[in-house]
Amino acid sequence: RTARFTLDPAFTVAEVNPRLFGSFVEHLGRCVYTGVFEPDHPTADDAGLRRDVLDLVRELGVTAIRYPGGNFVSGYKWEDSVGPVEQRPRRLDLAWRTTESNRFGLSEYIAFLKKVGPQAEPMMAVNLGTRGVAEAIELQEYANHPSGTELSDLRVSHGDKDPFGIKLWCLGNEMDGPWQTGHKTAEEYGRIAAETARAMRQIDPSVELVACGSSGQSMPTFAEWEAKVLAETYDLVDYISLHAYYEPLDGDVDSFLASAVDMESFIENVVATCDHVGARLKSKKKINLSFDEWNVWYMSRTEAQVSALDWPEAPRLLEDSYSVTDAVVFGSLLIALLRHADRVTVACLAQLVNVIAPIMTEPGGPAWRQTTFFPFAQASKYGRGEVLDVRVDSPTYETKKYGEADLLHATAVRAGDGTVTVFAVNRSRTEALPLEVALSGLGLTSVVEHSVLADADPDARNTLADPERVVPHAAGGTALEGGRLTAVLEPLSWNVIRLA
Ligand code: AHR
Repeated sequence: RTARFTLDPAFTVAEVNPRLFGSFVEHLGRCVYTGVFEPDHPTADDAGLRRDVLDLVRELGVTAIRYPGGNFVSGYKWEDSVGPVEQRPRRLDLAWRTTESNRFGLSEYIAFLKKVGPQAEPMMAVNLGTRGVAEAIELQEYANHPSGTELSDLRVSHGDKDPFGIKLWCLGNEMDGPWQTGHKTAEEYGRIAAETARAMRQIDPSVELVACGSSGQSMPTFAEWEAKVLAETYDLVDYISLHAYYEPLDGDVDSFLASAVDMESFIENVVATCDHVGARLKSKKKINLSFDEWNVWYMSRTEAQVSALDWPEAPRLLEDSYSVTDAVVFGSLLIALLRHADRVTVACLAQLVNVIAPIMTEPGGPAWRQTTFFPFAQASKYGRGEVLDVRVDSPTYETKKYGEADLLHATAVRAGDGTVTVFAVNRSRTEALPLEVALSGLGLTSVVEHSVLADADPDARNTLADPERVVPHAAGGTALEGGRLTAVLEPLSWNVIRLA
């Protein structure tokens, strides 16, 4: 059976916010140390940043980069991470049972963003686990106030004359999770988030604030948490956060391939909850969604790894190696975000380097692209513009977790110059999927490119020994005639079809 949909310029979802292509750098494992920062590396620049990694970060096309955590932020003392490096204290990081040297800190993070380029934007989290309102506004003053106060002058004395201009702030991290240092009930968190937001807005009313939503749709307090937190913070924040990670459990690859079914329902349920609170408050304001942690993560392997640690510095942690199957699921998660670009206006791929990351490095050695690198880089490059409404008529398959799921998952983005890119995943592990798209109203006449990520071996991956084993290739036979696109999607494939 053929999968079909129609594209019409009159039916759109929303303009894609560039922040949808954000990522995340946490002080966790080797994301920072020997990831982005390795002063002894042959490619290191004068700031100790790995140039080979910077090149790949630019190629990946990330925008907002969330920092410094994650669970790490709930024990973060920002003062430790500024000033002369030799005077910075070493601390226990309770979240990951490691030792934090603070050799890389706030100033180094801002320097890193500048080197990535103008598209990179800071997204800073404050600690609402072990700390509160006072420390959040002190950090804001240190970072953003021009000069003439103790904390802003301290920044200047540390060599950062210009304020950092951080607009986007997360009010804590996963505060609903019992694993979080300083974990809170929804009432407790709602109050501290509201008071922190109020104080931060007293310094600068234009800051954009993200309140913590649930750390997953399966949390027992999901939806009630969002409703209670927003009841306290609705007028004070701009976003509520969502986090979701997927992995194949019990060998159930078919359900894993349909992970975006869960992601889309999560988004729609959070939108419904936000709008319910807005309706109760008789507010015209809409809360947007910051999907600030998402990825494929073999999380079930992590707990044992972490509990075995005896406070090492920058150990190998969460270094998942991604297969072609993982990349197809990952691409489908990107499609889910794009399909909801009307309300998801910030999203961060967790994380950027080494830790469940699209970029891997070897200390002193090379850096390489994981399979997941390609869907992200292509979506960031060609997924800019207006998302068109895509309603697929697709053959389906049975999954244990989600029941009947479409074999085709797709979206399309129309750029400012009128060109259109279709992003599509075929979830079938065995069958190619014929695709037909009716697009007569768009004035398109040719197929510029049909790029595919698929492999005869669905477990193929890129490694230190074979870093280019998996790369996208060109598909044959894709045609556009008389306002009708026809293509065949290889089994288990991520597809980018560019039309002009
Ligand atoms: O991204 C890894 C961890 O996942 C983050 O520290 C935490 O917020 C989430 O549970």
